[in-house]
Amino acid sequence: MERIILDTDTAGDDNIALLMALKSSKARLEAVTINCGNINFDQQVENALYTIEFAGMSGKVPVYPGARHPLLRDWRTVENIHGKDGMGNSFFPKAKQRPEPKHAVDAIIELVNSNPGELTFVEIAPMTNIALALRKDPSIAKKFKSFYFMGGTNQYLGNVTPAAEFNFWVDPDAAKIVLHSGLKPTMVGWEICMRHGLFFGEELEKVRDIGTKEAEFFYAVNRQVRTFMRRERGIDAISCPDSITMAIVLDRKVATSTKNRFVEVDNESEISRGACYVDEYGVLGKKPNVKVVYEASEKRFKDMLYRLFREGRI
Ligand code: BDR
Ligand code: CA
Repeated sequence: MERIILDTDTAGDDNIALLMALKSSKARLEAVTINCGNINFDQQVENALYTIEFAGMSGKVPVYPGARHPLLRDWRTVENIHGKDGMGNSFFPKAKQRPEPKHAVDAIIELVNSNPGELTFVEIAPMTNIALALRKDPSIAKKFKSFYFMGGTNQYLGNVTPAAEFNFWVDPDAAKIVLHSGLKPTMVGWEICMRHGLFFGEELEKVRDIGTKEAEFFYAVNRQVRTFMRRERGIDAISCPDSITMAIVLDRKVATSTKNRFVEVDNESEISRGACYVDEYGVLGKKPNVKVVYEASEKRFKDMLYRLFREGRI
């Protein structure tokens, strides 16, 4: 059983990762924390609350709003990818549950300190909250059971600049703090999503035909992503970086190859802000600080999602 804290910039695929954690018999979601990233901050909070209500878990999982801005940088949100509401322009009604008054950073510190060695942190957003928590109480670095993040790229193109993946680009300074905190996280980079985490047009139509509310939700929250990918990337597909990360958390066998590597992020130059470097040959002579996922089983990942769509549980 994984007891999870999920840090999210809730839009599009983040909602599916959240739904997976809510619907898994192998996970108990202890808290959701919200980090600036994909879209307007307050809308991200509403999206997390809506997804919790959609899963029939209203009032059972607290949502803590956190950093509304990266540590040092300005950034641009991506409503053009996820829709104005971050839910594929579904404009769902407001959930009954309201966010907690406590700040996400304090919630993380308190939860980890009262459950040392017990909690798995899943980061599917820029890393501002966790970086601030590590600065406020560095001792928490050694108190997670495990730590997974979706972010960076391993020898692959960026998706927001030629050099950088979005989560690392939004807050490279926070990513740097996390990488050098002693946490030893597991990394799921953008290339894993591009190789194994795409749903193509035909598959999407099949999902829609399943006709359950979970299948419809998946289709709806990713609708705008499909339009974006068709128009801007020339492929009829949607990308699932956050949900493939959650699949790895819920079933380790989804990650079929991992390697310990030294990983660094560029927070100095402007042109390569957020660029991620995985020292494949160990030429820097530095101790590995990250377990990098190199390959994943697309079949295992998609089977898990199809189970969610058909049976409403995983
Ligand atoms: C990451 O950025 C966000 O847009 C997605 O939710 C994902 O976490 C991919 O680069
Ligand atoms: Ca995300």
